[in-house]
Amino acid sequence: MEDQKKPFGLDTTSLPFRLYQKSKQHGLWDPETIDFSKDRADWATLTQTERQQVLELVSMFYFGEQSVTDELLPLIYAVDKEGRTEETMYLATFLFEEVKHLEFFSRFLAEVVGTPLNLQQYHSKGYQQIFYKELPTAMQRLLTDQSPEAIAVASTTYHLLVEDIVGEIGFWFFGQVFGNKGKMPGLAEGFRNIARDEGRHIAYGTFLIQRLMKEHGDHIFIVVKNRMAELLPYCSGAVGPHGSHLIIPRMNRRLQILSRGCTNQEGEAGGDSII
Ligand SMILES: [Fe+2]
Ligand SMILES: [Fe+2]
Repeated sequence: MEDQKKPFGLDTTSLPFRLYQKSKQHGLWDPETIDFSKDRADWATLTQTERQQVLELVSMFYFGEQSVTDELLPLIYAVDKEGRTEETMYLATFLFEEVKHLEFFSRFLAEVVGTPLNLQQYHSKGYQQIFYKELPTAMQRLLTDQSPEAIAVASTTYHLLVEDIVGEIGFWFFGQVFGNKGKMPGLAEGFRNIARDEGRHIAYGTFLIQRLMKEHGDHIFIVVKNRMAELLPYCSGAVGPHGSHLIIPRMNRRLQILSRGCTNQEGEAGGDSII
């Protein structure tokens, strides 16, 4: 492969490098140190409905975090192949964070819920379509096709649908159910940490698509819009009926941000968690 790497030095002003710096500063929380003792006590007192809501949410996040961990490597490969060192550096921290998110939900299930569960029973048809089929297909395509269009489809699926729509609405729903009750504080602390990490992930996805638009033209924006429209029918099932009303406004907002063409003005863009 032709070496496309820069001869010397890193672009320390670029957004990916700044996100990398932020990950080093803010992304080092340890899932193992979160105290679940009050969560265990609370769990015993939750109503059947509250338990059901927690199990649905955690089962979706657990499998979702596992999926985004498994499916990120082809994007790292595609970006690194183009010699984009700062992006590769940031994506290394990104992957580390996804692994920790998975560890967090795994700990919660083992130490608070306790009883082994068939988590897939909580995955709706829409959720299954996105996480079992669309995400793996779009990401694994990058192993053989690193075209700008393939990267745009992958990033739209991963960053804009899975993280910015399904994930952020999940954070919001947890806030709706437990926000002011002081219950499940360990779970709440984990969600806050994860939401902060995810804000950076979405910022990177926004940057990536805007970079593709700048380098390859406005048709990339059409590719993104088409991909969103293609996945829209499954989003409602993936977020559940409680959050359906947030999907279209959130999608339109992200398209507006993309069309403005400048991620920097958002700082951690996407770091606008609705939790
Ligand atoms: Fe995550
Ligand atoms: Fe993420």
